[in-house]
Amino acid sequence: MKISNDPDINEKILKKLNSGSLSFYDFMEIALYNPQGGFYSNIENQFGKDGAFITSHYYGKWLGSVIAKQIKIIFNKMMNPVNFKIVEYGPGEGFLAYDILESLIKNNEYLDYILIEKSTHLAKKSRDLLSKFKEKISFSENLPDSFEGVILAHEFLDAIPFHILQKTDRGYKEKYIVLESNKLKYQLGPLSKSELNEHIKEIDKYIEVGQTFEIALDTKVWLELISKKLKKGAVLIFDYGFSNQVIFDKTRFHGTARSFRKHMVSEVSLENVGKSDITADVNFSFIVKNAEKLGFTLNGFTDQSHFCIGGGITDLIEKESKSEPNINDKGVMGILDPTGLGSGIKVMLLTKGIDLKDLQAFSMKPDDRTSFNTLKN
Ligand SMILES: C[S@@+](CC[C@H](N)C(=O)[O-])C[C@H]1O[C@@H](n2cnc3c(N)ncnc32)[C@H](O)[C@@H]1O
Repeated sequence: MKISNDPDINEKILKKLNSGSLSFYDFMEIALYNPQGGFYSNIENQFGKDGAFITSHYYGKWLGSVIAKQIKIIFNKMMNPVNFKIVEYGPGEGFLAYDILESLIKNNEYLDYILIEKSTHLAKKSRDLLSKFKEKISFSENLPDSFEGVILAHEFLDAIPFHILQKTDRGYKEKYIVLESNKLKYQLGPLSKSELNEHIKEIDKYIEVGQTFEIALDTKVWLELISKKLKKGAVLIFDYGFSNQVIFDKTRFHGTARSFRKHMVSEVSLENVGKSDITADVNFSFIVKNAEKLGFTLNGFTDQSHFCIGGGITDLIEKESKSEPNINDKGVMGILDPTGLGSGIKVMLLTKGIDLKDLQAFSMKPDDRTSFNTLKN
């Protein structure tokens, strides 16, 4: 039985199937992160023109420049602490880190940039890309203890494994994967983790019988971890997503989980496991609710185009065009595109021990006003 071209993935999935239970969560963990043959562990390109999908920094350095400017403002507001660190979770190939570092170094900032990347293959790629900053960067598996600074998560939370649930007339059920006539198929079963019930109670009012949706419990685990280690500072999250009210709207009745392969989006592919990305929209209400319980304060929420415009992207382009007349500013349209990344990617700012409500990049509201207004409902 061939589930994947990779023998190790094949063996692991068959073993789980034979032992009687393969939840979607377990399937996603293997498909994306199996050290051999997992999508993010693969030697093929995951990102960019030749990969499965494209993210903002493939359109040029501008998003990195705007983020660098915000980091500088935060650094100044925190009175330039000596142990200030920038930590990026899931940097992938390292392009965003490159743009941020390049921009901050130009302004001679003190720099200590830590990259936390689960895929050894991608960590190596970003280490190579960032070799000219080697004095300023480090790769780590863990956050430093008790630090001040900024944590960045750019399209990180949409890639962590999630559970898929359905509300049925017999209560909430979870999606498992089973083998039937030599093919992988979905089957509903009991909830695999009791913590899922806790979240269901909070969102039940939005869900109708027959509706399918995702819960990323690991987002909560991540928030718990960063809240323990970040003494003072900010967390900037960039990702596709919505508030509870919008994510559970009828238009998403079948959930938001999807696969990407060579820029084509489809239902989650159960074939050729390891060859496609698997992702889902991020539930920003879930993030705020859990973050606030852990002592974070919500200081900003907008979309990428308003983040960039509020954050001074036009001034940055004008300033840089003076010193570099042939500068490539075409990619700007890609990151501001109101039908694409510009409105699709939301940006959330959480803080601890510092008030950043007036950070300029959050001065404008997102196009998706419903998510903005209902974030905490
Ligand atoms: C969708 S990709 C985004 C990559 C990059 N930030 C970008 O925007 O192009 C998600 C990244 O998160 C990494 N990742 C997933 N889970 C992780 C974890 N628990 N710790 C660190 N990195 C993780 C993946 O290996 C991958 O590089």
